Parts: sequence; C-alpha cells; structure tokens
Amino acid sequence: MNDAQPVGTVAPTMPRAHVTGWGRYAPAQVLTNADLEKMVDTSDEWIRSRTGIRERRVAAAHETTASMGAVAGLRAIRTAGIEPDDIDLILLATLTPDYWMPSTAALVKEAIGNTRATAFDVMAACSGFVYGFATAQAYIQAGLAKHVLVIGAELLTRFLDYTDRSTCILFGDGAGAVVLSASDEPGGALGVEMTTEPQGAYMIWLPAGGSKAPPSAGTIARGEHYVRMEGNQTYRFATKTMATTALESIRRSGLQPGDIDLFIPHQANVRIIEAVAKGLDLPMDKMFINLDKYGNTSAASVPIALAEAVNEGRVEIGDNVTIVAFGAGFTSGAVTIEWTADPKRGLIGDAAVRPEDVSVRLPVDWDSVDPIPDALAEIMGRPGSLDVPLDDVAPGEPEHAHPEAQPVGH
Ligand code: ACO
Repeated sequence: MNDAQPVGTVAPTMPRAHVTGWGRYAPAQVLTNADLEKMVDTSDEWIRSRTGIRERRVAAAHETTASMGAVAGLRAIRTAGIEPDDIDLILLATLTPDYWMPSTAALVKEAIGNTRATAFDVMAACSGFVYGFATAQAYIQAGLAKHVLVIGAELLTRFLDYTDRSTCILFGDGAGAVVLSASDEPGGALGVEMTTEPQGAYMIWLPAGGSKAPPSAGTIARGEHYVRMEGNQTYRFATKTMATTALESIRRSGLQPGDIDLFIPHQANVRIIEAVAKGLDLPMDKMFINLDKYGNTSAASVPIALAEAVNEGRVEIGDNVTIVAFGAGFTSGAVTIEWTADPKRGLIGDAAVRPEDVSVRLPVDWDSVDPIPDALAEIMGRPGSLDVPLDDVAPGEPEHAHPEAQPVGH
C-alpha cells in the first residue's frame, strides 16, 4: 500500500477477498426465559422487553468451543466447495477457548482434517469475528493466503454466574464461520474500520484466570471466574460506536448507508440494533436479527447471523452487506462486503456436515470435571438433549498425554 492509499480501503492492485463459504452450528439444547425464571429473580417479559431475547442455546457436556467451531468451519468449507486442506490460514475468534493453550484454532485444524494451515486465536470479545475477518482480508490482499477460514465460536454458558440476573440472561452458545478466498474478480470485502477503547476495559470483564489473578480457591469463592458487566455503560458505548464504526466502513468502501442492502450487527440487544438503525437513518428491515433465538453468542453472533441471513434468502449476488460488532475492550469493528457467492450453496454446506461426525481429540489419560454448571444440570438432563460422543477420536488415534500412562502393549 502506498502513501496515497487510505488506511482501511482496498487498492485496485490488491487481490480481492471474497466470501465463498459460510456455515453455522447451534447446540440442540434450548434454554428459555421461562427456564431462567426458575433460577433468578427475572421474568420473560423483562428479558424480552429489555433485550429482545426469547431463548438461547446451551452446549452439551461433550461439546466444546473447538467442537462447535469445527462443525461450523467444515460447513463453511463445504459451502465453498473446497477441501479442508485448501485452507492456508485458520483464525478462530473466541473469549471462551477450550484451554489457555493450545489455541482452539489448533484443535479445530486437526478436527477438520487440515494439515497445512497456520492456525491461531483472535481475542477481541464480541468483535473478535470481525477482527478475524479483517485480518483474513489483509492476508489475502497481501498475497499471503488464498483461502482463509474465519470462525467465531463461544461456549459462554460455562462462564456465567447463574445468581447474577443482569448477565446470565444474556448469553448463549454456538459457532459460525466463513471462508474468504482470493480472486482478481471485483467485489468481495471492501472498507474496514476497527477501534479499541481501553477506557472501557473493566466494563465487560472476566477477572480471574489470567496472570493478574491466577485461578485459586479464593478467586473461585469470590466468583471471579464469571463474566462481569456494567450493562448501562456497555449499552451507551454500543449505541454510540456501532453506527459510527459501520459508517466509516461504508465510507471506506466508497458507498453511502443507503447503498447497504443488509446489516449484520452483533446480536446483543434489539434496542441497541434499533439505535444503530436510527443513527444510520435506516429502516429496521435492513437490520438482520436472530438474537431472539440465540441470545448474545459473542464472537459467534455475527457469523451465525450472516450464515442464517444468506440461507434465508436475505442476501443476493451484488448486494452490499455490512457486518458490524462491538464488545469488551471496548472494541468495535465493521467490514462492508459486496456479495458474490451463490446464496443457495449454504444449504449444501449445512447438509454435508453432521455434528456427530466431527470430533476433537482429547488426551486419553486426562479427564476434566463435569463441565455443566449446577444451575443448568436439570435442563441439560431433559429428554431431547443430544448425547453424541464428539470426544471419540478423529482424525487418527488418541495420543497419550504422558508416555508412562500408555497401556501395556503400546
Ligand atoms: N430481570 C429483572 N430485572 C433485572 C434483570 C433481570 N434479568 N437484570 C437487571 N434487572 C433490574 C436491575 O436490577 C434494575 O433494577 P433497579 O432499577 O431496581 O435497580 C433494573 O432492572 C434496570 O437495570 P438496568 O441495568 O438499568 O437495565 P437496562 O435497561 O440497562 O438493561 C441490559 C440491562 C439488558 C444488560 C442492558 O444494559 C444491555 O443490554 N447492555 C449492553 C450489554 C451488551 O450488549 N453486552 C455486549 C457485549 S458483551 C461482550 O463483549 C462479551
């Protein structure tokens, strides 16, 4: 990029990054507002009127961020009509990784059967997928990758305090993904805008588990391993920043808000999305909303919504689509995309991948505690829950974490 090329814009000489694949995965178990009424002092009416959320999904005990991300990622690969090994780079956005290390992206790489890609996690909370998308776009425009898999995957229901009614009603689990592919054809990902405002650093916060407050009986006793949020402050930031971030991305694409056919906003609160529409002077039918079904799935919310919007026929070839998110940090990000893929391909990708056929390898001599929070145990025990052993083994045989633990004869 030369000095004359404004930051966040695409030079005519750069390869274009086109969305060629998309996919999503939501766990089967539903947690309704009525269920939450039994846990905390809240009501369906309060939750619906203040947030727009009716229900959210909860991952089963065998599921993890990696397993959900792998299903969504494979569906995106199948939608794109490529093979897992065609992917050069895997970016996985999450604030709920399977482990502190290795990266969840590394686990997904193995689970989808890719042998070639660089894989790493992106940490920008609810803006993580948009940050990852922009990073993938930059790799492609720089000629560093041909196909990039960008995943947003979250398992938030294991990080919530089910005695705190101001947070536990908001969040849910799931994963979404896209494949970005290099092409000389016009269109694809256009203007990018991303912001980070650390004065909001402690407005959405998970205090313990890091180097400042390593996990201990004390941090657990104080509930510092749960998400904390100043809802009002976050709400104010979100309503202010989402419209300006989207607007800058649109401007950097050489477009006006009225040129955008569909906005895919982060699905946190329908009132925030209404404020964005007002800020951009656009009708609500240009805003895609599915938070009523999934709640806030953080980094997964934009790719789940994007995949759902395309599969529902809300996006056509030639449409301009703006994805826009905000989250802890405070962070925000937006990318405007000129859509170039056949929308019907999404259903092919979904049908091609069954969740029970995808698994993430575990070390055979280690087993963790039951991951389901006590408050959710009864709901998870209901008939209808999936009980598919995703932790089987694939691809390949399990490896022993410690050689001395290997059974005799190995
Ligand atoms: N049920 C019933 N009452 C409740 C509940 C509940 N679940 N939660 C809070 N209340 C009460 C409060 O205690 C308060 O009562 P009081 O007036 O007696 O003190 C009253 O409702 C109003 O509380 P507010 O916090 O002012 O409610 P508000 O209208 O702001 O809605 C909400 C709260 C939904 C959290 C809103 O502030 C919001 O959506 N904020 C943004 C959150 C967000 O988008 N986060 C996304 C980023 S997350 C990330 O990056 C991981």
